[in-house]
Amino acid sequence: MQPETTNIPKHVAIIMDGNGRWAQARGLMRIMGHREGVKAVQNIVEGAQESGIEVLTLYAFSTENWNRPKDEVSGLMGLLKKFLQSGLDNMVENGIQLRCIGNMHALPEDVQDVLRTTIDTTKQNTKLILNLALSYGGRDEMVQAMQAISRKCMDGTLSPDDICAETVDEHLFTAGLRDPDLVIRTGGEERLSNFLLWQSSYSEIYFTKVPWPEFTKNELHKALADFQKRQRRFGKTGEQVHP
Ligand code: FPP
Repeated sequence: MQPETTNIPKHVAIIMDGNGRWAQARGLMRIMGHREGVKAVQNIVEGAQESGIEVLTLYAFSTENWNRPKDEVSGLMGLLKKFLQSGLDNMVENGIQLRCIGNMHALPEDVQDVLRTTIDTTKQNTKLILNLALSYGGRDEMVQAMQAISRKCMDGTLSPDDICAETVDEHLFTAGLRDPDLVIRTGGEERLSNFLLWQSSYSEIYFTKVPWPEFTKNELHKALADFQKRQRRFGKTGEQVHP
């Protein structure tokens, strides 16, 4: 299936769910599901570029995921490191800029090092922003923004009366990035799970039962086609949007 080439969402954010269940359903260790998940990431990054998406945000590890069994956490960190190391040449070749939202400092030192190198090496690239949410939580992000804004009010560089939505935007991890136009969640659950809570206020949400390891370019095209059918009104009436 090929989506129309007009009205492509500029920023697509994905909750990559269902790896563990995909593996367990096949009698495999959960980490095997994550390993297949990395292949899906590589495929969807390529698909996003081919479709003309400008920003792809992937929820790779949440603040809550630290509570998973130690083996799974270290397995995921290992996969992330390998993904970054083996993907660097491809990112450079294809003009992909890597960014990260979340508490980068909470990641193991060796992963932080590779992450910093990748971010630094790709920072001039402009074809696609690949934004990884790592040790990320939407509430935590808002708390940190509130703390930073409060500090500015305390030291007199900001007046409480001047705080507006843009002020909050500027203090989030996503500062400088447009809000997601489309949020996709794979794996059958239908919730946001602490992902981009502020930024997804007007996002279209697409849920699919397809588990992340089976989310192909064709599945991405289906999500894009679904987005293209929707009318985004941002609180206005249909007539106001399309007079
Ligand atoms: C959700 O849980 C998924 C994760 C916690 C990890 C997602 C990670 C990847 C797709 C691979 C690593 C990512 C990169 C960018 C290299 P789950 O899928 O385990 O959920 P389930 O138990 O409900 O199936």
